[in-house]
Amino acid sequence: MEFIQVNNQYKKHVALINLNRPKELNALNLQLMGELRDALKALDEDDNVRVIVLTGNEKAFAAGADIKQMAGKTAIDMLNVDQFSTWDQIKKTKKPLIAAVSGFALGGGCELAMTCDMIVASETAKFGQPEIKIGVMPGAGGTQRLTRAIGKARAMELVLTGKFISADEALGYGLVNKVVPTEMYLEAAVDLALEIAQMSPVAAKLAKESVNRAYETHLDEGLHFERKNFYLAFASEDQTEGMKAFVEKRKPEFTGK
Ligand code: HXC
Repeated sequence: MEFIQVNNQYKKHVALINLNRPKELNALNLQLMGELRDALKALDEDDNVRVIVLTGNEKAFAAGADIKQMAGKTAIDMLNVDQFSTWDQIKKTKKPLIAAVSGFALGGGCELAMTCDMIVASETAKFGQPEIKIGVMPGAGGTQRLTRAIGKARAMELVLTGKFISADEALGYGLVNKVVPTEMYLEAAVDLALEIAQMSPVAAKLAKESVNRAYETHLDEGLHFERKNFYLAFASEDQTEGMKAFVEKRKPEFTGK
């Protein structure tokens, strides 16, 4: 892996992925995205890992897709490269995925953070979809996920002006889960991951899938989907253990079985 670093045992049941093209502010070139897809797939299949944290560095989570790599491309080049199959694969990650964002999360960087399930931001984080300033528009979910996250009026303004919002604004808009001092953003994201890692991994996957479904279907269909996953949770040993532990007034020991 050249452009990311992966630690599958960063903390108990928590894996950490670092985007690692610091000189280019972690601009997301095709190789980096391919490495990220492969790493997430491997961590999804790693029984020891329950939650994944994705981060950049203090200055940048990611300043967008690699503009230098895209600059000379034609529409047909873009079609043939089919970079979005990589993004589709990332979206299929079953385990909870938390973005720890400091500095720039712009364009594809903001879209990548929004592809994660939750965002923990440092107070210096800046979010935006500035593609309009270079003559294009968001292409990896920005017009869709941002609109769902913060509403039409605000999303429209960000997408049409390309302006950035601060971490506090993002918090107020409901784009991020929490904002913490810069020196603590990774720790805060990992703490959240550790909390989730204590839960049943089976239930976490089923619950994540169900919450995501709320974005993709209408209410009746979503409720139906939720119910099936609720029933499915009763096929797990974790359900037996969780309820037994409650009755016995002790902490459950979840195994992911
Ligand atoms: C390629 C990038 C880059 C990017 C920064 N760099 N962003 N290279 N693609 N998206 C490079 C710069 O060229 C420079 O390299 C180095 O990183 C440091 O950047 P500076 O601009 O010198 O830093 P600064 O003055 O602090 O400004 C930071 C910035 C600015 C405001 C984030 O870099 C910027 O506006 N970047 C582009 C943001 C953007 O438009 N993102 C959307 C991209 S389109 P050199 O070698 O020159 O010193 C997109 C579409 C997604 O994301 C669609 C699907 C994937």
